Amino acid sequence: MLLSWVKTFGDVIYINIFGRPVIVLNKVEHAIELMDKQGAAYSDRPRMVYLNEIFSASMILTVNYGYEVEPGEDPLVKLFEGSDATIARPGSPGATLVDFFSLLRFVPPFLPGGKFTKLSGQARGALKMMLNKPFDAVIEQRAAGVASHSLLALMLDKYEQNGQVDQSQLKAIKEVSGTMYRAGAGTTSALLRSFVHAMVLNPVVARMGQAEIDCIIGNERLPAFEDKGLLPYIDYILKELLRWKPPIPLGIAHRAIHDGEIAGKHIPKGSLIIPNIGYMMSDERNYEDPGRFFPERFMSDVSGTENTVLDPSSAVFGFGRRICPGRHFAEASLWLAIANMLAVFDILPVLDNDGHEVLPENKFTEGLTW
Ligand code: HEM
Repeated sequence: MLLSWVKTFGDVIYINIFGRPVIVLNKVEHAIELMDKQGAAYSDRPRMVYLNEIFSASMILTVNYGYEVEPGEDPLVKLFEGSDATIARPGSPGATLVDFFSLLRFVPPFLPGGKFTKLSGQARGALKMMLNKPFDAVIEQRAAGVASHSLLALMLDKYEQNGQVDQSQLKAIKEVSGTMYRAGAGTTSALLRSFVHAMVLNPVVARMGQAEIDCIIGNERLPAFEDKGLLPYIDYILKELLRWKPPIPLGIAHRAIHDGEIAGKHIPKGSLIIPNIGYMMSDERNYEDPGRFFPERFMSDVSGTENTVLDPSSAVFGFGRRICPGRHFAEASLWLAIANMLAVFDILPVLDNDGHEVLPENKFTEGLTW
């Protein structure tokens, strides 16, 4: 819906929802001006009723917990998928209906409007399990002396070196790991789903990526991160995926801590600032023929002139002091996943009973992530 509003209302949209001012920024330059350059005033987060109600896969699990995901139905991946339906689907934190109308959280689940009470109950349970299960598993593995290297194991080593029992520090360590698991798994898996989708719809792009890998790496081994500089087309595919379907299309809301202004428009103190990343990435002022999946748009020309097309990474990971802390890890692990999937698989559409290809619809779910 926000996409169609841009045409009618322009680059900066002001909405008043239940008395709360909301500013939607549709132009990447405005988002950078406010949230990067004037970051001190626009890096606060709004009260996130839905998320607060419920606060108190595989690459993330390995780095965070040293956990190797099992093929097929892995219990921790299942746990994450279950939580995603209740945590990410209601919308962007700070901008769900219950964030604007917080009394909704008291409506019993069986009454109209009680959806949030029911969802937050389910999400609370799922989050608790996500926080505890992998953490407890690492504690047990350490006790048995079989824990793999992981961020959590590293933090626990440091904690134990202090030689003091500090429950609040232990709780912080557990929550840092849980936050990374939650924040990292949903976004990276959304992007990898878009990758499979894009490859099925654009077989020529998949073949170009495979040709690059075959030519540079050959068939004797898999691509490694050290090969990155030699495989530019894989970079372009990743950039185009981030642009085509940015995993968090409306970002995570910021809050203005005092009055301000953007493009001659007043921003009242306390406003929610929503960067419309999805629109920025499909704005014709930034990208020619934005609906087309076209990694070549990021290529430098043969004369070596620098490519000046807007790098999606300047918007899809958010802005200013709140910019995604996992962005470098995300880009590195996604690059590796894409290069390896192209090296090993031909990603093709399913066939119907008559042997005809069935192309997937270009339809995505709604919520915090696709
Ligand atoms: C393609 C993958 C990813 C995308 C597109 C993405 C995008 C974002 C965005 C848009 C924000 C909000 C920034 C803002 O408020 O301006 C964010 C925040 C955050 N991300 Fe990511 N992210 C990704 C992967 C990851 C990974 C892998 C991790 C951790 C391992 C992570 C951890 C976080 C955390 C902890 C925050 C909250 C930061 C804060 O509130 O200050 N993200 N991310």
